[in-house]
Amino acid sequence: MKVLAFAASNSRKSINKDLIRYACTRLTDSDVEIIDINDYEMPIYNSDLEEAHGIPEAASRFLDKISEADALLISYAEHNGSYTVAYKNLFDWASRKKLEVYQGKPIIMLSTSPGAGGAKSVLSAAVGSAHFFVGKVMASLSVPEFYKNFHRDKGVITNPDLAAQLDETLSALQQA
Ligand SMILES: Cc1cc2nc3c(=O)[nH]c(=O)nc-3n(C[C@H](O)[C@H](O)[C@H](O)COP(=O)(O)O)c2cc1C
Repeated sequence: MKVLAFAASNSRKSINKDLIRYACTRLTDSDVEIIDINDYEMPIYNSDLEEAHGIPEAASRFLDKISEADALLISYAEHNGSYTVAYKNLFDWASRKKLEVYQGKPIIMLSTSPGAGGAKSVLSAAVGSAHFFVGKVMASLSVPEFYKNFHRDKGVITNPDLAAQLDETLSALQQA
């Protein structure tokens, strides 16, 4: 199974990127590609800009990546209870090209943050709206208190309960 994985964050030191890298090591029988949303940067969405210049090619490149994958693994960073501006912008431009951004793919959705909430709010928004964009959310997991539960140098979840929950969450892809 070809899995496209990314963190919905443009931070070079993204903790969601760390979580994605770890999760990818736990996927078996998969051909995984991790992309960086910084490679799909576009101006802030503006309908005037769209009318004048059309949709930037980065939106099509992002949609093509999704199209080529059998499944998606996404980890959402939370800013003020919602998506990071960087991801929302990419998603908005992509949706102008194709409203079915997720293109019917099975998706595992994750999130993490340093706080006890574990970016649950953005995760809930992403899970709840996926069907509008023709995404099939197979399972989701919020990882709270990232710095307590993850060893950054080793790149692993240190909390055994959370590690087991993540494996269980990822196993939902097998049903896809
Ligand atoms: C503008 C801003 C708003 C934030 N709002 C939240 C929030 O609502 N909930 C939360 O759990 N963390 C919040 N944080 C902390 C982020 O979870 C933290 O920066 C985390 O590292 C972001 O994930 P990333 O490293 O993958 O980008 C916020 C951070 C910033 C800069």
